[in-house]
Amino acid sequence: MDVQQLSETAKALVAGDKGLLAMDESTPTANKRLAAAGIPQTEESRRAYRDMIVTSAGLGDCLNGAILVDETIRQQTRSGVPFAKALEKVSIIPGIKVDAGAKPMAAHPDEKLTQGLDGLRERLGEYVKLGARFAKWRAVITIDDRTPSRGCLEANALILALYAALCQEAGLVPIVEPEVLMDGGHTLERCAETTARTLHAVFHHLAEQRVSLEGMLLKPNMVVPGKKCQQQNSDEEIADATVHCLLRTVPAAVPGIVFLSGGQTGEQACARLSAMNSRFKGRMPWALSFSFARAIQQPAMDIWHGEDAKVPAAQKALLHRAKCSVAARRGLYTPAIEKQ
Ligand code: 13P
Repeated sequence: MDVQQLSETAKALVAGDKGLLAMDESTPTANKRLAAAGIPQTEESRRAYRDMIVTSAGLGDCLNGAILVDETIRQQTRSGVPFAKALEKVSIIPGIKVDAGAKPMAAHPDEKLTQGLDGLRERLGEYVKLGARFAKWRAVITIDDRTPSRGCLEANALILALYAALCQEAGLVPIVEPEVLMDGGHTLERCAETTARTLHAVFHHLAEQRVSLEGMLLKPNMVVPGKKCQQQNSDEEIADATVHCLLRTVPAAVPGIVFLSGGQTGEQACARLSAMNSRFKGRMPWALSFSFARAIQQPAMDIWHGEDAKVPAAQKALLHRAKCSVAARRGLYTPAIEKQ
């Protein structure tokens, strides 16, 4: 394991004011989003949509990295350039989602365990040859009356750690993503407590599996109340609860934390990230950045509609959300920026 090289890649992924774009929806999820936008759910639609994203001029000014999925890393842009190479050309580091999805967990009703360790070492070797320099694995944790169970938390945390160790062996920086879902009626306090329990378990197992903290990134949820909770907190309360939770659970050796958006709107995700970066400026040991999927992509997908003529307008919308996310990283996002 080349710890120095892993650490340099991890730092490069959170350098400056830029962040990451997750464009790694599985085929079923990508099809669901295409269907909702009235676009045919074909391999060519998925390729053309991702072509629109990757060829957006100016994206390299907002992103250090982009996360691809197995299908896309094997495809090419319309001009015949493999997606990973097209990203490298504009100084965006290509990454790859390597989990095989969260499936129902035996003996744990309503809980899931992420699959994909079988054959992972061989797949990672192939992704390195295809140009990937970092990887991502997502675990999901649900909050309800009887969840999360200790069994579910421990098993997902152990699997995340085993994945991370294999990535570092292959020279890939692992992004470790334990997502506490926003679904449900739970309070902000319950999300804070569950996120802390989850992160304690994750960092315990990362240590046990000898994962180099300097050579990884954490991709957590923000601490937010459930979507159906009666009391929806202010952006400042969410920012404070999130950073306090992370300060108590994430070692300072981790170079960066890159948030998922998790079903927040682009505006909400940016306002909250910005509040964290402005309120805790100079008081956090790690960079606090973004790795949004929906919060950057959604308006562009709605506009694109599968039509070539709409590509420029869709790219403009994509770039706008990416620029708002960069402003949030600086702690300078305001609703007025939305109108620019
Ligand atoms: P969202 O930002 O849409 O939550 O997606 C991030 C992600 O990569 C989920 O795995």
